[in-house]
Amino acid sequence: MNLWSNIRTRAHQFGLRQVPTWFETSESVIDQFQTIGKKLKILKFIPNPFPFYDWIMGFYERESNREALRGPILERSRKILDVGVGTGYLLSRLVKVTGEGQEIIAVDLSPQMLKDSESYLSRHDQLTSRISFELADARKLPWEDNTFDLYVSSYLFDLLPEPELIQALHEMERVLEPDGYAILITMTTELDELPWFRKSVYRLMNEFYCLGYHKGRWNPVWRFLFAGYAPHCRPIALGACLRKMDNLVLSYTKLSRVSLFPVRIYYVRKGHG
Ligand SMILES: C[S@@+](CC[C@H](N)C(=O)[O-])C[C@H]1O[C@@H](n2cnc3c(N)ncnc32)[C@H](O)[C@@H]1O
Repeated sequence: MNLWSNIRTRAHQFGLRQVPTWFETSESVIDQFQTIGKKLKILKFIPNPFPFYDWIMGFYERESNREALRGPILERSRKILDVGVGTGYLLSRLVKVTGEGQEIIAVDLSPQMLKDSESYLSRHDQLTSRISFELADARKLPWEDNTFDLYVSSYLFDLLPEPELIQALHEMERVLEPDGYAILITMTTELDELPWFRKSVYRLMNEFYCLGYHKGRWNPVWRFLFAGYAPHCRPIALGACLRKMDNLVLSYTKLSRVSLFPVRIYYVRKGHG
């Protein structure tokens, strides 16, 4: 490839490339989520001069989590699965916008994160019998086919290495009932419809993020600033993966952001095929 076409390819991909995760499998980072989860408890008592994971998740993700749960899909859902519940911010929002007769099961692969999300809900007086917590893997969920009419997940698919992401999508498709919906929130490289200026800023931010993310090069800095947290999520093109799924229909998407980075919310319906 000559220099000119090399430059053109790079310019074309600038801020739109999907970098591989810096870890091999999601299991291999569960230990880190366990540690993050444990640190949340210590940080509650020890004043920390730096922003920390709990704060980042709560503060920066609030906008996209709220935006995602606006709309009619929530009202008609009776059996809801929240996968990769983490510290429980999306779950807490979900509890607020649903009510009696709507059952919610929260899932995570980290026992510590499950405990943290449960205690977050308990602190906010939101624990009721319609909410339960299950230790389970997004790639192999312990429920029968067609069990749920709503599957929600925030910032999980963008931390899964690509083969696991596809596996998790197949599992999602399997446990959703026909006409059931999924609401998925991820960092995104899918910026097509944006006006030129906004798109350029987001591409710049994505590129900046990926430069640091790639091979975990930023991790010491992030670990310091965020009290032990190294970023696991990275911008991905989830819409492209969803369009390849036989029985899933991408109904519509919304653009949001986490801090200065673009985020996309996908509304996906399972077909009858
Ligand atoms: C970035 S956090 C999710 C944030 C959360 N949804 C919220 O609203 O605050 C990602 C979570 O996914 C969990 N996770 C990672 N791999 C998983 C897997 N294969 N199955 C289920 N959970 C997983 C991690 O333990 C972590 O708690």
